Amino acid sequence: MLKTRVRQRGGWWRALVLALLAGAGLAGTGAALADDAALAEEVDRLVEEVRGLSPIMARKRASDLRAHIGLMFDSPHAVESDPRTPAGRLGAATFCFACHGQGFEHYFNVGEDVSADKVNDTCLQCHSGGDRMHFRGSPHEFQDMACVDCHAMHSDNERLLKSESQLALCSTCHQERRVDFNRPHHHPVGEGQVDCTDCHNPHGTAGPRLLRGNDINQTCFSCHAEHRGPFLWEHQPVREACTNCHDPHGSVHPRMLHARPAQLCQSCHMTSTFHPGDLMEHDEPQRRFMAAGRGCLNCHSQVHGSNHPGGSHFRQ
Ligand code: HEC
Ligand code: HEC
Ligand code: HEC
Ligand code: HEC
Ligand code: HEC
Ligand code: HEC
Ligand code: HEC
Ligand code: HEC
Ligand code: HEC
Repeated sequence: MLKTRVRQRGGWWRALVLALLAGAGLAGTGAALADDAALAEEVDRLVEEVRGLSPIMARKRASDLRAHIGLMFDSPHAVESDPRTPAGRLGAATFCFACHGQGFEHYFNVGEDVSADKVNDTCLQCHSGGDRMHFRGSPHEFQDMACVDCHAMHSDNERLLKSESQLALCSTCHQERRVDFNRPHHHPVGEGQVDCTDCHNPHGTAGPRLLRGNDINQTCFSCHAEHRGPFLWEHQPVREACTNCHDPHGSVHPRMLHARPAQLCQSCHMTSTFHPGDLMEHDEPQRRFMAAGRGCLNCHSQVHGSNHPGGSHFRQ
C-alpha cells in the first residue's frame, strides 16, 4: 500500500528527481524518500500494466505515458485517506479502474470509445451534488458536452481544468468573450480578480444564461449590494435588468455602458420638443455640454435610484 499523498504541485516530479538522485548516491535518504521511491516503482508498474491491457492508450501517450500517470497521483482523486475518492474506495493499486473501467476499456476520447453520456455518468456517480445539481438538461449538456470538455483528470491545473485560466478555457468556444474582456472597460477577469464562475455556473442552473443568481440583477447584487435598493424613487430599467445599460463582460465606454451617457439615456428618453429633447435643439455651447463628459448625469446623478426625499428625477 502506498502512503497517502498530500496534494502538491509538481510533488511527484520532485519526488522522482530525489529518488533518482538517491539512487546515484547524491542525496541523503529519509523516511519520505522510501515512500517516494515506492511511488516511482508503482508508476512503473502501471506503465507496464497500461501497455499490456490497453495498447491503444499506450500508443496515444507514447511520448509521455509515465508523466501522464504520475500526474494522477498528485490529484485529489488519489487521496487514499478520503473514502469518497477513487483511491479511497478502491485502494491505490486499482483506483484507475474507477474511471477507466476494469482493464482500461475507456480512454475518454469522446465519440471514439465513449459517448458524452457515458463520461458524465462516470463522473456524476460521485459528483451529482452541489454545483452539478442542474447539470442534466443544462445548455452545455444539451450541446452534448462532457465533463472532459472542460476538465482534465491528469493535470495539475486548479480545479483540474483543461486550461490554466477560465478565460482561456471558456473562450476556446466563446471567442467573443476574449474580445469583450480585452476592451478598455471590463470586469477584471483577465486580471484574476473576478472569474466567469463568479457570475456563471457552467454546470447548469435553475435560472437563465447559466447565471448564479435567479436573474441578472440578483447575480450583480452579490458584489454590488449598494444598488439593490429598494429606493424611494426607482428607475424602472434598473429594476428590470442591469444589462439594460451595462455590458457585463466589457465595453469601449467607461463604466461598461452600452453607449456614452447622453446617447444611452436618449435611446429611451427622446421627446421631440420638450426636455430632454430640447437639450439637443439649443445653441452650440449647450450641445457641446451634453455631448462631453457626463451629459445627462451632470444633473441626473442618481440614475440607479434615490432615497432622497427630493430625489424625484434622480437629481440628488
Ligand atoms: C477520476 C477519473 C480518472 C482516474 C482515477 C484515472 N484516470 Fe486516466 N484518464 C481519465 C480521463 C477523463 C482521461 C482522458 C484525458 C484527460 O482527461 O486527461 C484519462 C486519460 C488517461 C490516459 C491517456 C489516454 C489518452 O487517450 O490520452 C492514460 C494512459 C490514463 N488515463 C491512465 C490512468 C492510470 C494508469 C490511472 C491510475 C493511476 C488513471 N488513468 C486514473 C480519468 C481518470
Ligand atoms: C469514486 C468517486 C469519484 C469519481 C468516479 C470521480 N471523482 Fe472527482 N472527486 C472525487 C472526490 C471525493 C474529490 C475531492 C472532493 C473534495 O475535496 O471536495 C474529487 C475532486 C474532483 C474535482 C475538484 C478538484 C479540486 O481541485 O477541487 C474535479 C474537478 C473532479 N473531481 C472532476 C471529476 C470528473 C470530471 C470525473 C469523471 C472523469 C470525476 N471527478 C470522477 C470523487 C470522484
Ligand atoms: C463548460 C465547462 C465545464 C463543464 C462541461 C464541467 N465543468 Fe466542472 N468546473 C468548471 C469550472 C470552470 C470549474 C471551476 C469553478 C470554480 O472554481 O468555482 C469547475 C469546477 C468543478 C468541480 C470543483 C468545484 C466544485 O464545484 O465542487 C467539480 C467537482 C467539477 N467541476 C465536476 C464536474 C463534473 C463531474 C462535470 C460533468 C458532469 C463537469 N464538472 C463539467 C467547468 C466545467
Ligand atoms: C460580472 C458577471 C459576469 C462575468 C464575470 C461573466 N459573465 Fe457572462 N454573462 C453575464 C450576464 C449578466 C449575462 C446575460 C446577458 C444577457 O442575457 O443580456 C451573460 C451572458 C453570457 C453568455 C451568453 C450570452 C452571450 O452573450 O452569448 C455567455 C456565453 C457568457 N456570458 C460567457 C461568459 C464567459 C466565458 C465569461 C468569462 C470569460 C463570462 N461570461 C463572465 C455576466 C457575467
Ligand atoms: C467546448 C465548447 C464550450 C466550452 C469550453 C464552453 N462552452 Fe459555454 N456554451 C457552448 C455551447 C455550444 C453553448 C450553447 C450555444 C450557445 O448559446 O452559444 C454554450 C452556452 C453557454 C452559455 C449560455 C447559456 C444560455 O442559457 O444561453 C453560457 C453563459 C456559457 N456557455 C458559459 C460558459 C462558461 C463560463 C464556460 C467556461 C467555464 C464555457 N461556457 C465553456 C460551448 C462551450
Ligand atoms: C464577483 C463579484 C462581482 C459581480 C458578481 C459583479 N461585479 Fe461588477 N465589479 C466587480 C469588480 C471587482 C469590479 C471592479 C472594481 C474596480 O475596479 O474598482 C466591478 C466593476 C463594475 C462596474 C464599474 C466598472 C468601472 O469601469 O468602474 C460596473 C458598471 C459593474 N461592475 C457592473 C456589474 C454588473 C451589471 C454586474 C451583474 C451582471 C456585476 N457588476 C457583477 C465585481 C463584481
Ligand atoms: C439606466 C441605465 C443604467 C442601469 C439600468 C444600471 N446602471 Fe449602473 N450605471 C449607469 C451609469 C450612467 C453609470 C455611471 C455613473 C457615473 O459615472 O456617475 C453607472 C455606474 C455603475 C457602477 C460604477 C459606479 C458606481 O455607482 O458604483 C456600478 C458598479 C453599476 N453602475 C452597477 C449597476 C448595477 C448592479 C445595476 C443593476 C442593478 C445597474 N448598474 C443598472 C447606468 C445604469
Ligand atoms: C432602457 C430604457 C431606459 C434608459 C436607457 C434610461 N431610462 Fe430613464 N426611464 C426609463 C423608464 C421606462 C422610466 C419610467 C417611465 C417614465 O416615467 O418615463 C424612466 C424614468 C426616468 C426619469 C424619471 C422620469 C419621471 O417622470 O419621473 C428620469 C429623470 C430618467 N429616467 C433619466 C434617465 C437618465 C439620465 C438616463 C441615462 C443615464 C436614463 N434615464 C436611461 C427608461 C430608461
Ligand atoms: C442642466 C440639468 C439637466 C440636464 C443636463 C438634463 N436634465 Fe433632465 N431634468 C432636469 C430637471 C431640472 C428636470 C425636472 C424638470 C421638471 O421638474 O419639470 C428634468 C427632468 C427630466 C425627465 C423627466 C421629464 C418629465 O417629463 O417629467 C427626464 C426623463 C429627463 N430629465 C431626462 C434627461 C435626459 C435623458 C438628459 C440627457 C439627454 C437630461 N435629462 C439632461 C435637468 C436636467
